[in-house]
Amino acid sequence: MTDQTRPTIVAYGPLYPYLTDQLEQRFTVHNVTADADMSALPAEVLEARALVSFGSVGAPATIMDALPKLEMIGLFSVGYDKVDVDHARAKGVRVTNTPDVLTDDVADLAVGLLYATVRNIAANDQLVRSGGWARGEKPALAGRVTGATIGILGLGRIGRAIAKRLEPVAGEILYHNRKPAADTAYRYVADAIDFARQSDVIIVATSGGPEAAKLVDGAMLDALGPDGVIVNISRGGVIDEAAMVDRLADRRIAGAGLDVFAHEPHVPEALFAMDHVVLQPHQGSATVHTRKAMADLVVANLDAWFAGEALLTPVV
Ligand code: DGY
Repeated sequence: MTDQTRPTIVAYGPLYPYLTDQLEQRFTVHNVTADADMSALPAEVLEARALVSFGSVGAPATIMDALPKLEMIGLFSVGYDKVDVDHARAKGVRVTNTPDVLTDDVADLAVGLLYATVRNIAANDQLVRSGGWARGEKPALAGRVTGATIGILGLGRIGRAIAKRLEPVAGEILYHNRKPAADTAYRYVADAIDFARQSDVIIVATSGGPEAAKLVDGAMLDALGPDGVIVNISRGGVIDEAAMVDRLADRRIAGAGLDVFAHEPHVPEALFAMDHVVLQPHQGSATVHTRKAMADLVVANLDAWFAGEALLTPVV
């Protein structure tokens, strides 16, 4: 394609370099950051027919309205909670995401966080590094994953992949969804409080967005109780973060393994001093293999769109 025939697209926010390379080979790419003045975008940017963004930035209505020729948004993440999907639908702008290719890696991290939290791995690593062990300080005895009742909040693709990994060791796997899921032998618990009360560990794997906001509230955490652990690889906003921090502070829950936070990259400062909490900087899909597969899927959707073919993974 010549420069005249290459579609113009916007890269919204700094993108993963491999993705940027793929985009630059195919399209005329303009970089726009989320804090740009949307009313003063240069004329060449206004030619953009597609926008590529990633999960934590998404695509608010302002950027959609600022690009008069926008036809589609390719999102480099499975979660689209930061995309104003209703606005896109109303404007006839198509949206794609990257499901499936990241399921296994996000599930792996959930299981890693579960073990790291229940078995005090981060705290004990610190004990060794700080010389505490050499000075004779005794590590606290840990909880146990084998035999535990694991509660999966959100038995979707990722929830199922987590459950499958834990099946050989769990005492029982429960799940809580809005409705019972088809094709599963795991036990459905309809009432959220009851679900938390019966779980030794809750793993949050539901999608984010307004419907899921603070789904895990103080009452649910109280029902999880002082021996209970929570793991979150979904979206920070699904848990009432202040309620969780309070309960961790006075050990009304035993621990938390967190890959996501309500206002990333901000992490509540109180968590930094807690050795019963394991913190990750939103790394669920962050393996070389999967980030490449996600980028390839974003590009395949763009290629399909500009070739007039069906989108591979449409959200809208
Ligand atoms: C996504 O892609 O939505 C996940 O947050 C990856 O960790």
